[in-house]
Amino acid sequence: MKIVSNAQAMQKLSRSWHRAGETVGLVPTMGALHRGHMTLVETARKQNDRVVVSIYVNPTQFGPKEDFGKYPRPRREDLALCRAAGVDAVLAPETLYPPDFSTWVEETVQSKGRCAVSRPIHFRGVATVVLKLLNTALPDRAYFGRKDAQQVDVIERMVRDLDVPVKIVPVEIVRDSDGLALSSRNRYLSPEQRQQALILPHSLREAVKQKQPVAWLRRVLSRAPGMKVDYVESANGRLCAAVWVGKTRLIDNVKI
Ligand code: PAF
Repeated sequence: MKIVSNAQAMQKLSRSWHRAGETVGLVPTMGALHRGHMTLVETARKQNDRVVVSIYVNPTQFGPKEDFGKYPRPRREDLALCRAAGVDAVLAPETLYPPDFSTWVEETVQSKGRCAVSRPIHFRGVATVVLKLLNTALPDRAYFGRKDAQQVDVIERMVRDLDVPVKIVPVEIVRDSDGLALSSRNRYLSPEQRQQALILPHSLREAVKQKQPVAWLRRVLSRAPGMKVDYVESANGRLCAAVWVGKTRLIDNVKI
């Protein structure tokens, strides 16, 4: 497995694969890899000759009061997981931004509402770094988890609008046996908070059976102990919610 630390070296490697007639799948991540990420890797492994995982905690998608500094960075464990999964290259740059970086990608419809209300600069940072990663790894396909439903909507729209030659492959949410959607941020939860958090996946599942799923879910979550509702919204055929459990923000969604 190659560890690549800059964009030019990654482009060179990917071009050499393409010249040999091989297809390339990219799994963009911020590291702290869990079973959800590894499901993306397995899917990419089945559909492509080569698989690249990018590990980069992207500073431009974090607001000033968010957890960029404390975001987990277990680099050695991440690399071991990638090696065991048969990944061909890990793109792990120190930075992807020149010091005088001044160009942004701003998707202006899907990036409104839901997570954008409490994270106003988040999707500009995501769209910008994802386009950079696509231009760097030059994949045929790129894989994203449906847990970040709005992120998938933004990226699909960006790729369509800007004619980026890549197929975006959304992959279903992976859950723990108790129902909680896997997330790198679950490790911030105390055992008690983790128990409290379970009402999020359970009530999402119940809500879609109700006549007014959004209102019903908002009511149930706002009464749940230890929880503060950030939003409940339906968008693009999914019922989506974000909540705070202590200082940890969790998101989840289900198909309506
Ligand atoms: O979903 C994530 O981990 C990140 O938002 C992504 C897509 C890797 C961009 O930094």
